[in-house]
Amino acid sequence: MATEPVTTEAENDYGKFVEIRRHLHQHPELSGEEFETTRFIRSRLAEAGIRITDYPLKTGLVAEVGGLKEGPVIALRADIDALPVQEETGLSFASLVPGKMHACGHDFHTAALIGAAYVLKRRESELKGSVRLVFQPAEEKAKGAQQVLDSGALEGVAAIFGMHNKPDLPVGTIGIKSGPLMAAADGFIVEVDGKSTHAAVPEAGLDPIVAASQIVTALQSIVSRNVGSGESAVISVTKFHSGTAWNVVPGRAVLEGTIRTFEENVRLRVLERFQQVVEGTAAAFGASASVRLIGGPPPVHNDEALARLGEEVAAEAGFQAVTPVPSPAGEDFAVYQRRLLGLFVFMGTAGTHEWHHPAFNLDEAALPVSIRFFALLAERALQRLSVSGSGGDPQ
Ligand code: NI
Repeated sequence: MATEPVTTEAENDYGKFVEIRRHLHQHPELSGEEFETTRFIRSRLAEAGIRITDYPLKTGLVAEVGGLKEGPVIALRADIDALPVQEETGLSFASLVPGKMHACGHDFHTAALIGAAYVLKRRESELKGSVRLVFQPAEEKAKGAQQVLDSGALEGVAAIFGMHNKPDLPVGTIGIKSGPLMAAADGFIVEVDGKSTHAAVPEAGLDPIVAASQIVTALQSIVSRNVGSGESAVISVTKFHSGTAWNVVPGRAVLEGTIRTFEENVRLRVLERFQQVVEGTAAAFGASASVRLIGGPPPVHNDEALARLGEEVAAEAGFQAVTPVPSPAGEDFAVYQRRLLGLFVFMGTAGTHEWHHPAFNLDEAALPVSIRFFALLAERALQRLSVSGSGGDPQ
């Protein structure tokens, strides 16, 4: 089996992909509205003669670079949407759209995948199978991965690979680990019902603010008393709304927030305790409470064999694989991993600010790193699959 490195042509003229990234950065579009972004990606891929598939997606697109017709199929995925954030970077190529910004670096992910597509296209005759290039919409709303699955674009795909830029890792390092990498991100809305009364006569009513305050406090015991020292979870109450006047005890208080967990068994335990603590505490104060859970994406959970392959490819490409600290942020790449084997990695981008910050930025020197890594990873994954039989373990 040939083991010569992937061509460096696309890396050498990576200025093209910097331009692509900057164009996307100037023209951010929110989840589900990525029409111009999709058109732009389509035309850049068409320029290189890359085939665009016709899987039905309102926004986003799936392209394909193919080798052997009967060979295995893998997928590379980038998310393409931006955030409702007012940019404060002062960059010469800052967002031209007020109130919208690529503050999570999905412009970088998109440009890097276009770059990998170019490299793979040039090596098409060498590929031992096909690579689907998934430009996924609506990641920020955790809806796009399901839309891609529903479109049928991943049927027959043996493994899927993706990444997120990581501001706290240096350029040239790639965070790779098997098992949990990013959290399940569930949301909640709690309504606490009491009975309104004159503020001077509280005994005539039932104060939901006092009951809801106790609920906020009691919830803190779940992480400290129901989650083990080797496990982890986060519960944050981020909204507490009640009342309309200084002299009226209101009838209702509403709490909202999020629950983050890394393992399904911890997630189920925490959700169960959450329900018990809310209802029990409300009852102790004579109030009633209802819990509405907003199920988010499950945890990003990497396949062990694919993680090993990722580490080998990083070394072969001349980069450093490091063991990343799992992130409590959510990522809908996890939705793919429920259906097929997947590897999600953190690409070091040496940023000065965290994801979603108005001054978020990254070092574009990470573009050729990402392009080279994913092109080589696709090639090696197809080689392994073609040896072990399509659809088998890419070990
Ligand atoms: Ni993101």
